[in-house]
Amino acid sequence: MTVDWAALRAAAAEVRERAYAPYSSFPVGAAALADDGRVVVGCNVENASYGVTLCAECGVVSSLAAGGGGRLVAVTCVGGRGQRLMPCGRCRQLLFEHGGPRLLVDTPEGVLPMSEVLPQPFGPQDLSG
Ligand code: THU
Repeated sequence: MTVDWAALRAAAAEVRERAYAPYSSFPVGAAALADDGRVVVGCNVENASYGVTLCAECGVVSSLAAGGGGRLVAVTCVGGRGQRLMPCGRCRQLLFEHGGPRLLVDTPEGVLPMSEVLPQPFGPQDLSG
């Protein structure tokens, strides 16, 4: 499946404009391509109880499920200056669940498979051993 990274990054930048980040002033947008071709997006949504903030990738995963599920093929995450951001550790885990080791991640060092940015993952298969 071909990934239009420019379109994905543009979608992430667009949804970033709707981020709710009054505490950090660090808006984030994320966009992912699903295996049926749809693009799912999310932005960070902060909270007065800082620790329960939802990262942009949480929105992506929620949107994937709400839109009918499927598998993630590629994901990008952009900050306020358009810079590529690495998904935080928790979000790598969330994304791994729905994309697996071959999910392509748009990192500051180029596009890398999830297996390289989340090595030795804990995943669904570990629960059935
Ligand atoms: N943030 C994300 O949305 N995704 C990440 O992977 C890293 C951090 C958000 C959370 C918080 O609203 C802001 O960036 C600053 O940490």
